[in-house]
Amino acid sequence: MRIILYLGKGGVGKTTVSAATATAIARRGGRVLIMSTDVAHSLADALSVELSSTPVEVEKNLFAMEVNVLAEIRENWTELYSYFSSILMHDGANEVVAEELAIMPGMEEMISLRYIWKAAKSGKYDVVVVDAAPTGETMRLLGMPESYGWYADKIGGWHSKAIGFAAPLLSKFMPKKNIFKLMPEVNSHMKELHSMLQDKSITTFRVVLNPENMVIKEALRVQTYLNLFGYKLDAAVVNKILPPSSSDSYLQSLIDIQTKYLRVIDNCFYPVPIFKAKQSIAEIINTDRLYELSQQIFGDKNPADVLYIDEKTQILEKVDGKYVLSLYLPNVEVTKLNVNIKGDELLVDINNFRKSIILPNVLVGRKTEGADFAEGNLNITFAN
Ligand SMILES: Nc1ncnc2c1ncn2[C@@H]1O[C@H](COP(=O)(O)OP(=O)(O)OP(=O)(O)O)[C@@H](O)[C@H]1O
Ligand SMILES: [Mg+2]
Repeated sequence: MRIILYLGKGGVGKTTVSAATATAIARRGGRVLIMSTDVAHSLADALSVELSSTPVEVEKNLFAMEVNVLAEIRENWTELYSYFSSILMHDGANEVVAEELAIMPGMEEMISLRYIWKAAKSGKYDVVVVDAAPTGETMRLLGMPESYGWYADKIGGWHSKAIGFAAPLLSKFMPKKNIFKLMPEVNSHMKELHSMLQDKSITTFRVVLNPENMVIKEALRVQTYLNLFGYKLDAAVVNKILPPSSSDSYLQSLIDIQTKYLRVIDNCFYPVPIFKAKQSIAEIINTDRLYELSQQIFGDKNPADVLYIDEKTQILEKVDGKYVLSLYLPNVEVTKLNVNIKGDELLVDINNFRKSIILPNVLVGRKTEGADFAEGNLNITFAN
């Protein structure tokens, strides 16, 4: 069983690349479910089929679904739902219960995670591909299994300090009990899902990006956050690459900019493998087109495989009371090394290539005290 999650900034092509990956796996004979956790469901458009919260078979071995938070609350969270219904009935407002519950902070993430867990445990699929929402929301989703205990306590103690963050209607009828006890075994599922997400033989995280400055920054942020959660990146997919040259001067200027950023991407993500896809003229809106795209990206490689296994790409540790950031840079002979901080970015100049890393919050504002290179690892020490 494998879970593949695509992350990245809005609009870079996460849905398209996820659907291309799923199609390629299905056509290689693997049973695959692609699941969209994004409320702005565009997976249906990419596959040119109608989707719902029940998987449909798009073609042989390829199943697709969209997470529907409201439907899930109505159908499967019956105890919680009827509890709230009974309270709200007095106000004649029971039909809005699901909507009210859905906007409870964290509810959407929890439901999406539970869908992933259910699909992974169902035994029906060899691979589950997750087409996620843009970075911010997905990071909240991925941070959830770890912070679930804290979160459950916080929301569980609602009745005392509800007003601040409860949904407006619910806040009038604060439950007197820990509502998390009414949820279907979420806690044990969260724990199980968390260990599945951290198991590199099961779960693979990939970032999709375009050769553009802001998009690269966001992709680097993804890498940093994943590392902090203990999740690892196994590939970067650079999408929407323009042709190598053009006789049109306007287009050529755009190509020149992309060429510069493609080099930046090569440096920044090394040693994580980088896959590339061209900007297509035709719309990519059916499985044949998606399959073509997957061939461009992965060639002969099976996208269901773990494409890169290294534990140590980026590690943050406290050594003798100080933060040390270690970067794994194999096969690099360091003759010249320079480390600089600019805002939340760490710029590492090694020989003549520059790697940039988005610093985790805990390191922002700190100065570097020193850097050394040993056994393929660049270790940077930060001042307290
Ligand atoms: N290689 C490509 N060539 C041409 N068009 C593409 C390519 N990849 C994606 N697109 C188009 O770009 C648009 C955005 O792609 P997509 O929806 O996959 O991005 P996304 O990252 O999932 O966006 P969101 O963050 O909104 O979910 C879509 O119209 C899609 O068809
Ligand atoms: Mg999308």
